[in-house]
Amino acid sequence: MTKAKDVETVITAHDRERERLDPRGDMAAAADGSSRPASESARSSEPATIAPVRLGPITVPTPVVLSPMAGVTNWPFRVLCEEYGPDGLYVAEMITARALVARNPKALRLCRFAPSEKIRSLQLYGVNPAIVEQAARIVVDEDMADHVDLNFGCPVPKVTRRGGGSALPWKTDLFRGIIQRVVRVCSEADIPVTAKIRVGIDHEHETFMEAGRIAQEEGCAAVTLHARTTAEYYGGHSDWSRIGELVEALDIPVFGNGDIWGADDALEMVRETGCAGVAIGRGCQGRPWLFSDIKHAFAGDDTRVNPTLGEVSRVIERHAELLAEFYDGDERMAVHDLRKHVAWYLKGFPVGGSTRKAFMECESLDDVRREIGRLEPAMTFPERVKDKPRGRVRFAKKVHLPYGWLESRQTTHEQRETLFGDDPMDASY
Ligand SMILES: Cc1cc2nc3c(=O)[nH]c(=O)nc-3n(C[C@H](O)[C@H](O)[C@H](O)COP(=O)(O)O)c2cc1C
Repeated sequence: MTKAKDVETVITAHDRERERLDPRGDMAAAADGSSRPASESARSSEPATIAPVRLGPITVPTPVVLSPMAGVTNWPFRVLCEEYGPDGLYVAEMITARALVARNPKALRLCRFAPSEKIRSLQLYGVNPAIVEQAARIVVDEDMADHVDLNFGCPVPKVTRRGGGSALPWKTDLFRGIIQRVVRVCSEADIPVTAKIRVGIDHEHETFMEAGRIAQEEGCAAVTLHARTTAEYYGGHSDWSRIGELVEALDIPVFGNGDIWGADDALEMVRETGCAGVAIGRGCQGRPWLFSDIKHAFAGDDTRVNPTLGEVSRVIERHAELLAEFYDGDERMAVHDLRKHVAWYLKGFPVGGSTRKAFMECESLDDVRREIGRLEPAMTFPERVKDKPRGRVRFAKKVHLPYGWLESRQTTHEQRETLFGDDPMDASY
């Protein structure tokens, strides 16, 4: 895949869009060039005020982000989302810094973009500042992205038990070190860096406020807050009041994240928190048209996409074809990847277990097309799943952390030794 459009071209188009979206010209532009809605005017019963968000040289005309999702937000899915809502930010799933540095072919595949993608947005994950810096260096030297997000929000045990993802901001030296190094490298190419965080490890060990301040001090262009702790995992409801607290505390834009299932939720989050934009994860699984709904809602238009099963089928077929391209023509890998998406696309439609099973057994694009041909195209979109929770919803059974992690806010020499002391990739250690 080749480089996306020149960023300058995108900005010119975005500036026109900014005028269109902000006809009254009262966008709250901060002195540093960042933009976020004036929090007071965006609160409570007031209508939501949405302005384009600037991330360094990039402008996101409709400040809605496809939140990175491992195994989901590869370029075929991003392309579908961007086609529905062409002015947002569509982030690739997390790339393990070490895998990129080692030039792991799977990691390199995840770094590809489709030519149609306007802003090439990558997310890096790592624990060792030196390795994440090396990964950023590759991104910059090889012109791999226009925007880099850093993952400090992952709650998955295999990540947090190594001190990564949402466990990492607890260690402020590592957190600051990673951001400082990545911002320094990316600034050479004028690539904006953002950080994605959670509220903390649990409510006794909250980190978001300090993490947000550090991110701002070290030059991040924005932060995204998923307002749950690691312990909350995906259970309960994201506590949007914490997003409002962070908006109050920071000057850089804050993207609010967690439990946006429909366009009204997006408006509500902006109203309640004053956030500069929203990030959507599970809500768009099997519903890439959610980006169209939110774009319309942010423009004050109540047009919503309500596809029939026939229309959903065409999206499934196109998704399958794009995945085949993503896997360099390997249809088997494509349709295996498609399986989870099909389960999401068909959620709520009364199509029966045997149909779902038949999709799960497909091995080629022709198999997928055959099963699509058996669906009832006139079936309307099921009301009971529209704008309702989907995907993961459970709490963590237990938070897994490295030994002694919570004892202090800085890593000890021993901890650094255990975490990455023997990494042959880490020349600086
Ligand atoms: C399947 C799945 C994979 C995810 N992978 C990532 C990831 O790679 N990087 C990341 O920062 N967050 C990841 N997340 C978290 C989402 O980006 C998002 O923060 C979270 O789902 C909350 O938003 P939502 O309520 O809109 O789903 C993932 C979430 C899910 C459900």
